[in-house]
Amino acid sequence: MTRRYHITTFGCQMNKADSERMAGILETMGMTAVEEPNDADLILYNTCTIRDNAEQKVYSYLGRQAKRKQTQPDLTLVVAGCVAQQEGAQLLRRVPELDLVMGPQYANQLDSLLAQVAQGNQVVATEPVHIMEDITKPRRDSEVTAWVNVIYGCNERCTYCVVPGVRGVEQSRTPEAIRDEMVMLGEQGFREVTLLGQNIDAYGRDLPGSKPDGSNLHTLTDLLYFVHDVPGIERIRFATSHPRYFTERLIKACHELPKICEHFHIPFQSGDNDLLKAMSRGYTQEKYRRIIDLVRSYMPDAAISADAIVGFPGETEAQFDNTMKLVEDIGFDILNTAAYSPRPGTPAAVWDNQLSEEVKADRLQRLNHLVGLKAAERSQRYMGRVEQVLVEAQNPKDPTQVMGRTQGNRLTFFPGDIAELKGQIVDVKVTEIRPFSLTGEPLMPVLA
Ligand code: SAH
Ligand code: SF4
Ligand code: F3S
Repeated sequence: MTRRYHITTFGCQMNKADSERMAGILETMGMTAVEEPNDADLILYNTCTIRDNAEQKVYSYLGRQAKRKQTQPDLTLVVAGCVAQQEGAQLLRRVPELDLVMGPQYANQLDSLLAQVAQGNQVVATEPVHIMEDITKPRRDSEVTAWVNVIYGCNERCTYCVVPGVRGVEQSRTPEAIRDEMVMLGEQGFREVTLLGQNIDAYGRDLPGSKPDGSNLHTLTDLLYFVHDVPGIERIRFATSHPRYFTERLIKACHELPKICEHFHIPFQSGDNDLLKAMSRGYTQEKYRRIIDLVRSYMPDAAISADAIVGFPGETEAQFDNTMKLVEDIGFDILNTAAYSPRPGTPAAVWDNQLSEEVKADRLQRLNHLVGLKAAERSQRYMGRVEQVLVEAQNPKDPTQVMGRTQGNRLTFFPGDIAELKGQIVDVKVTEIRPFSLTGEPLMPVLA
């Protein structure tokens, strides 16, 4: 009988992209996917450790499957991703039933690691490696939108963050490899690509070569010019941007190149300069505001999203207020918020000025309230407007509707048949708004 696999993915878009690659490898090995972990012969958890609650979730999932392994010894249990990298061999001590613990840099080596498992080994793969270009075909979750990695790892040292520790140093793919992947996606009928990197503005700085003036030969801006005309790909997004490196040249390119969506994800983390310094972010709130002003001077309607942390060690009520002020003034379309969580191996985790969980929870709640109000305000501007929606799927809650995204990344529902509309860009007149989504009517009856 064919072996069946199940993958659960936690965490960010990089993990989602890695999971699609690992699923591709498992399918190449002849396995088939199942939704239900209890039906699977191989279970892979692709894990996240950005905050403590993300890590704990993994242990509770794992505990259940480890029990099952006692009655089903041929079950293969794999932990991949960032918890695997952080804990390494310790995970085997904690969950002796595990067969394979593999860091994110090993995603494209799953087949050879499983071959070692098949020989009866318990395998730990967490040594830093050079990430080889992929020859495996990812099994993508969508047929319309796709992730394309452009840079792995992160060389920043934000004092709260585990990512540099678990994802390793920056490794850029070559512009040619990125373009080739996009060309293939275009040929396969994909319409939208999101270029991925934890700090995507760092793209290219590790690649050989420099311009006559000594600057990098390869930058994200150059990359956008290099890939913007790939046939079939109608929309290009990129994430995540770092305010420290976000340039006017990049903003101009996004304005100039029609396929680049006017949506920018630029986390600010805090609206207070002393906290930004303690976080080692390398910019001030004034600089952040100038970037957003500049983006809006070129693209007045651009959608802006960001991440913020409340309750960083030592944060005073006045400093928290500076974050609230920034959120009030800028008006984000979406803001992901989190209470600070001390992470192993990060500088801020051992500082003695940690705040209580109560203070953090209270500030998080106040910030989230404001975020909802501002998002609702930002949604107002869509009312009555005609937006271009790239149709991705059926509305899971209403089969008479399809759903997709505007180029500003607002989730939008409208009446239609997914069989006809999937992958099409449809003009939709917005008739209903909610803080984080829209409903509308297609402008022209779309013919089959
Ligand atoms: N590379 C991106 C963010 C990656 S992590 C950047 O530089 O902004 C995603 C988000 O998780 C971060 O933006 C931050 O808001 C949040 N985060 C990271 N570490 C955290 C921690 N220790 N506690 C709470 N939130 C954290
Ligand atoms: Fe973490 Fe900072 Fe790197 Fe983002 S830039 S991944 S927050 S270290
Ligand atoms: Fe989590 Fe790793 Fe992404 S820690 S946020 S899955 S880089």
